[in-house]
Amino acid sequence: MADETPSLEVMGLTKTFGHFTAVDHVSFTVQPGEVIGYLGPNGSGKTTTIRMLCGLLTPTEGTARILGLDVIKQSEAIKPHIGYMSQKFSLYDELTVLENLQFYAGIYEIPRATEKARIQEILQTAGLESRAKVITGSLAGGSRQRLALGCAMLHRPPVLFLDEPTSGVDPVARREFWDLIYQFASEGTTVLITTHYMDEAEHCSRVGFMYRSKLLAFDSPRVLKSTYLSGAAWDLAASPLLETVEYLSGMEGIAQASLHGDRAHVIIDPKRWTPKQLTQALSEKNFDIQSIETVESSLEDVFTLLAHRGKASLVDR
Ligand SMILES: Nc1ncnc2c1ncn2[C@@H]1O[C@H](COP(=O)(O)OP(=O)(O)O)[C@@H](O)[C@H]1O
Ligand SMILES: [Mg+2]
Repeated sequence: MADETPSLEVMGLTKTFGHFTAVDHVSFTVQPGEVIGYLGPNGSGKTTTIRMLCGLLTPTEGTARILGLDVIKQSEAIKPHIGYMSQKFSLYDELTVLENLQFYAGIYEIPRATEKARIQEILQTAGLESRAKVITGSLAGGSRQRLALGCAMLHRPPVLFLDEPTSGVDPVARREFWDLIYQFASEGTTVLITTHYMDEAEHCSRVGFMYRSKLLAFDSPRVLKSTYLSGAAWDLAASPLLETVEYLSGMEGIAQASLHGDRAHVIIDPKRWTPKQLTQALSEKNFDIQSIETVESSLEDVFTLLAHRGKASLVDR
């Protein structure tokens, strides 16, 4: 893998709009066949990053290479190698499924001789064979999304950008969509996908977390959890329970406190608290802490902690 040209090399990529920096010196490298989850709250700069990578927006500073090609200097040469499903993906509702595919085959300049076979292949892969003659506007959400993905994959791009493709789709349809993503990835396609669903992020080879225009972390879900959360998710048996949760929420160095069954679940900043210190601080306020147990953490816990540190400017990079 070491001598292979990376699919994506993002180097100090930055975009400012007037005085506002939407993407702030973002850097990461992606190898062929990886499925990258690009996460972060609304407005954190995910779409702006993708638009720069697709050559639709010029970076203010920094650059990126896709398959070794520079996104600024070689944007035209890159186009055949990338597929892009935008947040508001555009399908023509009044056309049939087949007509939409034919339209995009034209846009991507698929040779006439292979167009028919390729469209057939996409219809089959996307599970839309029986819907070819259906008017697109009447498709259910999940089928629409699979059609949009199929359109973006018509020209067999080795790199695929998907911007919130599954938002607002039911869980079954989301599963089917992900099966399709894994199928393309197993055939060697590199995928960068933005999502708000943590279960989806858990299935990515690596996950980037954007927060206020900065990339705060970029690693596999397993490494993210062990790096940021080893020992940082605790369950407390405490009384009075509700009051303890409420008090914890306002404490310094506590990223989040919530009720988990009969326990108080806290994400703590391990740099700030040990169980002993926390027990003592709480008992000084007349809360009775019977036990503190470290528990298994989720990616959501990691992001809660990172966002908390980002807010408190504790992330020094
Ligand atoms: N063309 C633009 N002009 C000015 N501000 C923009 C423009 N595009 C995006 N922004 C701002 O940049 C920030 C990041 O936007 P975006 O990349 O769409 O975030 P995300 O996709 O993470 O929700 C937002 O505050 C947004 O309002
Ligand atoms: Mg967006």
